[in-house]
Amino acid sequence: MKVLFVASEVTPFAKSGGLGDVSAALPRALQGRGHDVRIVMPMYSRVRKAGRSFEPVVKDAQIDLGGLRVIFSIYEAKLPDAEVPVYFVWCPSLYDRPGIYTQDSDEHLRFIVLSWASLVLCQRLGFSPDIVHANDWQTALLPLLLRTAFSWDRLFARTKTVLTIHNIGHQGGFDAKILPHTGMANDAHLFHQDFLREGRVNFLLTGILYANAITTVSPTYAREIQTPEHGVGLDSFLRSRRDVLFGVLNGIDEGEWNPGTDRSLPANYSAEDLSGKEKCKEALLAAAGLPYVTGVPLLGIVSRLAWQKGFDLCFGVLPQLFASRAVQMVVLGTGEPQYEALFHGLARRFGKQVTYRPGFSEPLAHQIEAGSDFFLMPSRYEPCGLNQMYSLRYGTAPIVHRTGGLADTVSPFDARRERGTGFVFNHFDEGGLRYGLSAALATFGQGRPEDRARMATLQRNGMRQRFGWDERIGSYESIYKLLAA
Ligand code: ADP
Ligand code: GLC
Repeated sequence: MKVLFVASEVTPFAKSGGLGDVSAALPRALQGRGHDVRIVMPMYSRVRKAGRSFEPVVKDAQIDLGGLRVIFSIYEAKLPDAEVPVYFVWCPSLYDRPGIYTQDSDEHLRFIVLSWASLVLCQRLGFSPDIVHANDWQTALLPLLLRTAFSWDRLFARTKTVLTIHNIGHQGGFDAKILPHTGMANDAHLFHQDFLREGRVNFLLTGILYANAITTVSPTYAREIQTPEHGVGLDSFLRSRRDVLFGVLNGIDEGEWNPGTDRSLPANYSAEDLSGKEKCKEALLAAAGLPYVTGVPLLGIVSRLAWQKGFDLCFGVLPQLFASRAVQMVVLGTGEPQYEALFHGLARRFGKQVTYRPGFSEPLAHQIEAGSDFFLMPSRYEPCGLNQMYSLRYGTAPIVHRTGGLADTVSPFDARRERGTGFVFNHFDEGGLRYGLSAALATFGQGRPEDRARMATLQRNGMRQRFGWDERIGSYESIYKLLAA
């Protein structure tokens, strides 16, 4: 099949979270199955790093969006370790900014241009996609664009669309006065009329209405977003399209995330020989400036510090925990100021127990996954979540709220029956988090031989789970085939 995959972030070129990882790994896996996949993303300034080279493909293309003339070019590079072409839309006035996403007044335009440019690219290449695969609100106008502005072109006569919702919390809701910039002002009647009357357009909703199929990134999240509690206002629209709504769990890149070969680690290890894991813990603590004491458990966090991630529960729970027990924690992440302040505050108050690294670091993310005993992910909601799967693969038991993809990937540890992979709390409140933490710490024990044997069982149970794309890719292929038929 010929697949055009359009996304606002693709690892390693630009990544803010899991979308970047999935937008590289899924196309790579599709190509491994013999499909002709092409990726399109913006040429953010961070993409142009030393050592990368780009081939020009389209020079100075022009589009008119409601009286606004936008000129862009397109450059090509290959996805590392694969022959998948990645096309970068070059338009410095829109993409040369410090962040991937902005709060700027033309945020809508940055991604309208991405969607338009990806279809113009197909025309220039004579590439007739069987599937246009859009991701999140940024590219959710693609299905409607194909039915309107591009419907005259026979190139797209057989093209079907898939919209993957990675996070329904971000919908691309804008004032309706930007409608002309979509280039579809003449088709205003095709946007949701209730929203228009209220003076709004919603990009994600537009995709939900017009995509041939909708997927989201775990089976539980697919059910959740059809409820008022988790649908963020779009549940009724999703319910009305439930016959074409599929929940497909994300995979992880098992080559990139492999404790047996990971080059960011001071020692490698496997389920058969876990000895390297303790060396990773020692090195992580040393790098974090914390003392290493046997028998003291270490919690790890790697996260965007956003409301979604549930750290609100930590304000009431963690100070008490560190004050009353010998427990350590290493945190990596940036985001909303109140959570940064929380972790700065804990690091100040519990200097020998807690280190906080504000920032983004791939190697440190790998070192925390490997060196921690437990990985804390109390997400309020979690469409899929990759970190808990990385943790399982690294023998680091996740402590999670039972929601979305966390519910689908982590099972409660039962020491007596030697089953389960982590610690799962049902209620999103401080009691829930306290329960998860105390179950984890009880499993860790005091580091006596019987405690260590119990931990090794837990670690091996996690490491033996399979979350690779090989296990998942068939689901996407079936959806594509269903549409193409
Ligand atoms: P989300 O996409 O909602 O942020 P996921 O768990 O799906 O959550 O994916 C998060 C991805 O982003 C993981 O690959 C994780 O390692 C990475 N990540 C998040 N914050 C950081 C950071 N500060 N440094 C390095 N990697 C990070
Ligand atoms: C979003 C979600 C996360 C998911 C990722 C990749 O960022 O928050 O749960 O794993 O997309 O699909």
